[in-house]
Amino acid sequence: MPGRVTADLDGVPETALWTLYHRAAEAVRPDTVLADPRAVQLVSEIAFPFRERMGAARPWLAQALALRALGFDGVVRAFLDDCPDGTVVALGEGLETQFWRVDNGRAQWVTVDLHGPLALRRRLLPHGERQRVVVCDARDSQWMAGIDPSRGVLVTAQGLLMYLEAAQVTRLIAACAGAFPGGTMVFDTVSRRFSARTRAHAKGPGGHRLPPMPWGMDAADRDHLRDAHPAISEVSEVPLPAGRGVLGYLAPRAAVVPLLRTDRPLITRLRFGAAPVSLTGQP
Ligand SMILES: C[S@@+](CC[C@H](N)C(=O)[O-])C[C@H]1O[C@@H](n2cnc3c(N)ncnc32)[C@H](O)[C@@H]1O
Repeated sequence: MPGRVTADLDGVPETALWTLYHRAAEAVRPDTVLADPRAVQLVSEIAFPFRERMGAARPWLAQALALRALGFDGVVRAFLDDCPDGTVVALGEGLETQFWRVDNGRAQWVTVDLHGPLALRRRLLPHGERQRVVVCDARDSQWMAGIDPSRGVLVTAQGLLMYLEAAQVTRLIAACAGAFPGGTMVFDTVSRRFSARTRAHAKGPGGHRLPPMPWGMDAADRDHLRDAHPAISEVSEVPLPAGRGVLGYLAPRAAVVPLLRTDRPLITRLRFGAAPVSLTGQP
């Protein structure tokens, strides 16, 4: 189709198209759990062989990724209720259209990702005055420059941390805890078993082979996240919202379903103490 923008991504950056494709497939349903017309429009504007490269979007997977996005939306909305002029920093934001789902008309929004997805994002999405796009590796704390912590900061990492090594995740969490006193961080993880499957190059959900995900975490590992930095004052699970059908019924209840209790994707929220804490634990 003329006028469409070619997406020339592969490897981990290409996964920004995979998640967008599934969110849009969910959003076109009349009974969708995630209203997201901008995602639908975006897919129609990108010249990329979605179906050939990623297969048909399976409805269960589309709903699962939409419920994950909805879980993040809930955390962002709660943050903006508390800190309406705060800053949301979306690490590895790719082609996520969350800003247009949750914006309150006052928040600052910082999108951080690698060059490829952000070049596409800049061409296709209109970024207003309160939005900033920062080309930076999330592991490099340069993206923190210019972020005002005084009105509240929420760092989100949706679909990102599984692509990092465990030590890099710990360093990133520690850097956020140190830089944003009183702030919040929310991210999702895959299980240790799922991570091992991707490292063995097994096909992932929907039959598509996702890039290796070096870092996996089980629910039992969650409390160890506190060890990353003394300023981490709270670690909690964000349950998925309810959706449609069996998957939608189980989503918010997964923590108590024996087979799903340990081996499942998780969303975790960290809160950072208000006062800066030195790494020795002394105030
Ligand atoms: C699975 S996609 C998720 C995109 C978006 N957050 C979503 O949920 O649709 C992973 C994203 O993380 C980005 N990414 C991967 N490694 C990164 C890194 N080291 N620094 C910044 N972004 C990274 C990729 O370019 C891609 O946009």
